[in-house]
Amino acid sequence: MKKIYISLAGFLLTTAAWAQESTAAKTFWDDPINDPMMPVYAVSTLVFIVLLLVVFVALYMVRIVNILIVESEKEKAAKEGKVYIPRPSLWSSISQKLNASVPVSQEQDIDMGHSFDGIRELDNHLPPWWKWLFYGTIGWSAVYLVVYHLSASLPLSTEEYNTEIAIAQQQAEKRKASQPALVIDESALEYTADAEIIAKGKSVFVGNNCGACHRADGGGNTIGPNLTDEYWIHGGGIKNVFTTIKNGAVEKGMPAWGKSMSSQDVRDVAFYVMSLQGTKPANGKSPQGEQYIPEQKVAPIDSVKTKAQASL
Ligand code: HEC
Repeated sequence: MKKIYISLAGFLLTTAAWAQESTAAKTFWDDPINDPMMPVYAVSTLVFIVLLLVVFVALYMVRIVNILIVESEKEKAAKEGKVYIPRPSLWSSISQKLNASVPVSQEQDIDMGHSFDGIRELDNHLPPWWKWLFYGTIGWSAVYLVVYHLSASLPLSTEEYNTEIAIAQQQAEKRKASQPALVIDESALEYTADAEIIAKGKSVFVGNNCGACHRADGGGNTIGPNLTDEYWIHGGGIKNVFTTIKNGAVEKGMPAWGKSMSSQDVRDVAFYVMSLQGTKPANGKSPQGEQYIPEQKVAPIDSVKTKAQASL
């Protein structure tokens, strides 16, 4: 017995420790005593138990009353010198009403007089439960006809299906509208040496075989120009590079990648191309196009700061 207590205590302790660890999503069982719903659960459990007890006591009382009635009927029958015949129970009278079966003692009344190998044919009626079910289906069919076909107050299965499909389509459209695909264009594009985007861009570069025409390191080959120098045929800077990759220079052999790639992939690979600037790979193709010198960005003057500094 002691062993059981010890292992039980151990179990409780470990669960308590575990409960303290998982503070992220607290459930009722982590700390049942201090849970705000605890009083509600406790009271409803109590009410449920009391109700069960009441039902139990009530059934018991009914039984006692029944026994008393039977006893008094027996006494009455004995006084009048009759044989006591017990009243049929509630269940057996219900079952008799449902089945209306003829008792074995009265079978000769419905015997059809046909006997085959000792098997006799009786003229039994259909059991009432069966007949009433049948009449019920007839009544139901009338109701169905009026509700679904004559007054059309409820939709038929086909309509139900179609409306559900329509609702689902609406929901799908709403969902689509609420999360539009990220479309990037060159207008607001600014290059930053974002390692994550550049890494993604590199995999786009490799995955689309840009290296087949520009060399794996971007140094250029007989087909494509050098992407690592400051000279550009279609203009340097992230906006021009993005536009060139998106629209290509199809007649010169540079595909329009915007047709087969998401704008995000074009942005990523453009960032990667920008990151190749000045890498000077060995045997790079000689410059083509014009030199691109990025505009020096003038930092906007922070008037508040300047004022604050002036007052110092
Ligand atoms: C089938 C060969 C081919 C492939 C593949 C190719 N390019 Fe090009 N690319 C070219 C050619 C040719 C040019 C030069 C076009 C011109 O002369 O107008 C070019 C030009 C460019 C330019 C502009 C260079 C400049 O000087 O203005 C960039 C940027 C570029 N490619 C990036 C890419 C990227 C990124 C990929 C992969 C997604 C890629 N290219 C795949 C052939 C290719």
